Amino acid sequence: MKIAIIGAGTIGLSWATLFLSKGHTVTVSDPRPDLAQVVPRGALLAEPVEQAVAEAEVVQENGPERIEFKQDLFAAIEKAAPSDALILSSTSGLVASAMSEKMAEPGRLIVGHPFNPPHILPLVELVPSPATPDALVRRAREFYRSLGKVPVLVHKEVDGFVANRLQHVLFRECVSLVEQGVVSVAELDEIVTNSVGVRWATVGPFQAFHLGGGPGGLRHMMAHLMTDIEPETAARLAEAAEREYPLENYEQLCEMRDRLQSAIIELKGGVN
Ligand SMILES: NC(=O)c1ccc[n+]([C@@H]2O[C@H](COP(=O)([O-])OP(=O)(O)OC[C@H]3O[C@@H](n4cnc5c(N)ncnc54)[C@H](O)[C@@H]3O)[C@@H](O)[C@H]2O)c1
Repeated sequence: MKIAIIGAGTIGLSWATLFLSKGHTVTVSDPRPDLAQVVPRGALLAEPVEQAVAEAEVVQENGPERIEFKQDLFAAIEKAAPSDALILSSTSGLVASAMSEKMAEPGRLIVGHPFNPPHILPLVELVPSPATPDALVRRAREFYRSLGKVPVLVHKEVDGFVANRLQHVLFRECVSLVEQGVVSVAELDEIVTNSVGVRWATVGPFQAFHLGGGPGGLRHMMAHLMTDIEPETAARLAEAAEREYPLENYEQLCEMRDRLQSAIIELKGGVN
């Protein structure tokens, strides 16, 4: 597949490494003077952007995080790229409906937000605008899956999408705890990497509390330890958890969690 990388900073270069490793033809465009020295071996260079995207089947944009810049860039990309090229943006927080304002067909732009570094971490948040046809979202999802990524559809355009919103909430609390003198920076990192870090690498927050609540699952956990959650909300979430992780499989799910968590701890060199 012919893929154009627009913007070759931290994220663009990491995507280029991944795309090349999967056998794709990668053309990179970036005005940085040292471009030839920093691109991975095998990448082609093209200037300006219009030339880089002229034959692209997929465009992955990774330029500076400024709305006016991205609006002009996507208008230029749309004009120069083949009319059926997938146009994807790595943006960490700008929504497609705002970035596509100057495009003739705004629905063509889809956010494909990777978690850094994209050549290692599996998640890609797929965030289409309301104008994007479902068929295009399916194509974007298939593209990322073909690279071995885990694309997850985000159903509404919220600032910061999902993974970074979660990360920011947790980080604000980290800053607060260190600032209050509760723990040092190193102690806080040690707490996270030996607890929620291992846990959430294997089971997400909902599954973790579902299994952590004993055979009664999330329903039991919420009734006893999370009484601040509205009863109707708690019931809805418990039903969803029971549907996703049936309690008749409780023992097997716990066994799987334990096996994965032990493997991570072992891989890290055990406890020190
Ligand atoms: N850094 C992260 O952790 C991270 C994670 C996920 C997504 N993102 C998103 O990826 C995008 C890039 O972020 P980054 O961290 O790689 O930034 P970066 O500053 O490292 O790279 C941006 C690159 O864009 C280039 N550029 C400037 N003008 C250009 C133009 N006209 N045409 C082509 N390239 C141009 C710059 O020379 C630079 O190399 C942003 O939208 C950011 O929000 C960043």
